[in-house]
Amino acid sequence: MALNSNKKQDRTFAGLDLGTSNCSIGIIEHNEPVLIPLEDGETTLPSCVFLEHGVIKPEKISEHALAERVEAEKAAQTKRAQTDTHGQVFTEEQLINIYRKVIRAENREDAKTDQRMQSIGEALAFSGGVMFGREAEFAHIANPENGFYIKSPKSFLGAKITKAQQGIFASVIEKMLAFIKEESEYIKAVELDQVVIGRPVNFHGLQERDGNSQAINIISEAAKKVGFNDIEFLMEPLAAAYDYERQLTQDKVVLIIDLGGGTTDCSVVKLGPNSINNESRESDILGCSGKRIGGIDIDNKLALMGIMPHFGKDIILTNELPIPPTLFRQAVCVNDVAAQREFNSNRTGVELQRYCFMSLDKRIERLKTLRDNKLGLKLNKSAELTKIALSKDHLAQVNLDYIEDNLQISVSRDQLGDAISGELNQIQSIVNESLLQSGTTPDTIFVTGGTAISPVIKQWINTMFPDTEIVIGNHFGSVTTGLITHAKRIFGS
Ligand SMILES: Nc1ncnc2c1ncn2[C@@H]1O[C@H](COP(=O)(O)OP(=O)(O)OP(=O)(O)O)[C@@H](O)[C@H]1O
Ligand SMILES: [Mg+2]
Repeated sequence: MALNSNKKQDRTFAGLDLGTSNCSIGIIEHNEPVLIPLEDGETTLPSCVFLEHGVIKPEKISEHALAERVEAEKAAQTKRAQTDTHGQVFTEEQLINIYRKVIRAENREDAKTDQRMQSIGEALAFSGGVMFGREAEFAHIANPENGFYIKSPKSFLGAKITKAQQGIFASVIEKMLAFIKEESEYIKAVELDQVVIGRPVNFHGLQERDGNSQAINIISEAAKKVGFNDIEFLMEPLAAAYDYERQLTQDKVVLIIDLGGGTTDCSVVKLGPNSINNESRESDILGCSGKRIGGIDIDNKLALMGIMPHFGKDIILTNELPIPPTLFRQAVCVNDVAAQREFNSNRTGVELQRYCFMSLDKRIERLKTLRDNKLGLKLNKSAELTKIALSKDHLAQVNLDYIEDNLQISVSRDQLGDAISGELNQIQSIVNESLLQSGTTPDTIFVTGGTAISPVIKQWINTMFPDTEIVIGNHFGSVTTGLITHAKRIFGS
């Protein structure tokens, strides 16, 4: 087999979906958009990074420290000899040898502690090992103390974060883009020069307009740094629309619903053979709306309503008051920086300790374990896996033995449906906003995004639009395919 490093590298353009949960990228091959394998032969790469702590070498043995220890032991030996004439007495050489070993071991321990105490900024700068996707998830699960795990960095880009935090997320995004670009270039033996990157209508954040420009700046700076020369952004629901358009033989007005991990994005677009080749599609876009609500919020809600009751959500304390509900909300909202800071604070630690004394119900201790052992992300993963299992079965078992030995609970699809009724209402208002802007009734609804796999969501869409044709796209590929299609439109010669 000829390795691709030996092949001639043509310059080309790509479409890149930097998703909250999954990333994917593709190029045009034989005139068709194709996705590129990124991990284990799969074309989706989970959006997570594990930064191993930078390696700190143990210090050399200090002559001074060694002399001090040897002298102290010599003095102790002399003192012991006054009362115990049979005790072992070591020569100076033996003591030097013994204490060199002791100090070497201590220095190794100190280096390990320093390594564990590194800040994320130091880990980025020292550049220990960096892992992406499933490999990052496994590295975190196997040895969480070994580094920093960053899940869904996209969901923080539009948030109110400090300059320092922006710098950290910018470096993380840069590392992810560098990996995706390098892997794709190697596999396809091309040089990726131009790129269309997907963006949600509104980034996940609290400060809509500013949040959007902050996020776009971070991504485009990172894309420039890794070597993309032309960078364009396209709204993700429009990208999904351009994917669907490829199969149309007649013109239609289509409502696109993209239910992703971090955001729900909608658009109402005129699609079809008469518009597909237009370079500018502005006049075909009749409506566009989006909000930071997606699969992660569903996971958080399922954790709150389906799992937190087993962590004491309904306990009444000896002062006849319940545990403040905000504590449980903070515990599960892993994508809310402020909530996580508060839940992990010492103040919360002390408060939880107090609640443990104020109830005989041992479930509260599970909440304390969750906080003390920093198991929030692990619990969030359990909630996500439960949600995914409920797409297949009506009842799912949740294994929580990392919280307490043999702790298993079960959650039903009906519980999931009840837990997310508020989220479904929010999604409905996003859909309605696009429809209102368009002032028309769509001929077809095209649905994409991983969250739309859930039967609870599918059923809800069917109920909302009983009389309209509903087409289900490729849950994890439609946006990227549309981005590649658009890249061809604007960069293809
Ligand atoms: N079988 C399933 N049932 C229900 N949900 C699922 C299933 N498989 C994946 N998901 C959910 O789909 C979401 C990821 O979808 P997707 O890959 O479309 O998101 P994304 O494009 O990364 O996010 P965004 O577009 O919001 O930035 C996750 O929340 C994941 O839990
Ligand atoms: Mg998406």
